[in-house]
Amino acid sequence: MTLIANAASARLLHNSLVDRGRAYGGGERAVLSEEKFEQARREVVAWPGYAETPLVRLPGLAAEAGVADILYKDEAGRFGLGSFKALGGAYAVFRLLADRVAEKTGGAAPDAAALAGGDYRDITSAVTVCCATDGNHGRSVAWGARTFGCRATIYIHETVSDARRDAIAGFGAEVVRTPGNYDDSVRQAAADAAENGWHVVSDTSYDGYMDVPRDVMQGYTVMTEEAIRQLPGGRPPTHIFVQGGVGGLAAAVLAPFWQRYGADRPRFLVVEPERAACLYDSAEAGRPVAADGDLDTVMAGLACGEVSLLAWQILAPGADDFMTVTDDAALDVMRLLADGTGGNAGLVAGESAVAGLAGALAALARPEFAERLALGRDSRILVFGTEGDTDPALYKSIVGRSAEAVRKSSN
Ligand SMILES: Cc1ncc(COP(=O)(O)O)c(C=O)c1O
Repeated sequence: MTLIANAASARLLHNSLVDRGRAYGGGERAVLSEEKFEQARREVVAWPGYAETPLVRLPGLAAEAGVADILYKDEAGRFGLGSFKALGGAYAVFRLLADRVAEKTGGAAPDAAALAGGDYRDITSAVTVCCATDGNHGRSVAWGARTFGCRATIYIHETVSDARRDAIAGFGAEVVRTPGNYDDSVRQAAADAAENGWHVVSDTSYDGYMDVPRDVMQGYTVMTEEAIRQLPGGRPPTHIFVQGGVGGLAAAVLAPFWQRYGADRPRFLVVEPERAACLYDSAEAGRPVAADGDLDTVMAGLACGEVSLLAWQILAPGADDFMTVTDDAALDVMRLLADGTGGNAGLVAGESAVAGLAGALAALARPEFAERLALGRDSRILVFGTEGDTDPALYKSIVGRSAEAVRKSSN
């Protein structure tokens, strides 16, 4: 049964660089290590407002799709910010401020409670963090700055919606709208940071800029560790489908599974919008290359033209396959989740939250893909619903009702 539009347009590529037999090793550990997973977890669970997000079982959708189980890690409620990104940028801001305090006082780095309680405000209030964003990352950095006591200046490009701008400003950040696209806003943020002595907190890494994005990814692993603990019966899934922007999220999901289950880890797929597929294109080229597409996609958080080099270090040897899906497929999945297909409770998933699930459903609708991926009646699929209605008006225009109405109808 075909549950989504355009399954026929999906593309699937096996990663010729993957080395499944290889243990999680030194190269990967230099990016994301077990000790750092644990350090991030210990810090983040102590933050004000921390609560585990639910891992929701979707038996109705699984039955309609013809698999044993679909598990959906629902990040819509994360720290009240609406996306998993709350874990990344804010964690990097926290680490940056803690290091700054240690440097200035010559003592140990303070914990989150000390910073949030204002113990070192004299030091932290002199710090300004900045970043470019299409929404979610900037919200996380602004919230981290407010929580841990520094200033934030957040750059948005021409087409970021006013709702997203207002959400960032609501955390007390200064928001600067720049002409041009996302890459232009990145350049403006970097130039202004250099001129003013600000700290760039980016969610992507490139030559010469690795430490902060490593912390961002480390923060994301808190979500993965939660999901592993929440697996029904402690049983790992057979397949994981995760959406890719620059790849930081995908790497932060893959790493803990690879580290824990080694060669027996679930089959791992990265799914991107067809017109912003820098990870797919890089896998095809065998090295990081810029995306072929024009980056024009409704999945704003995934509209990325270049891979994060740190993420690539994990995905190149560890991800099994790469896929692309169309915008229409993603919009259909948003509606399927809102409607509670197969009798499941309705779920609120934003435009950038659903590419992973769209990839899984597209693969199931294409017998030759399902066969290549060993997807079938016994498969247990794990996906990450990485955002809720982070742009409420856009959500309503796509789904036909508000997030509140979806939640109400599912109670
Ligand atoms: C909701 C959502 N999901 C997924 C991603 C992709 O994350 P990454 O760019 O680390 O691949 C983003 C990025 O902004 C996002 O906002």
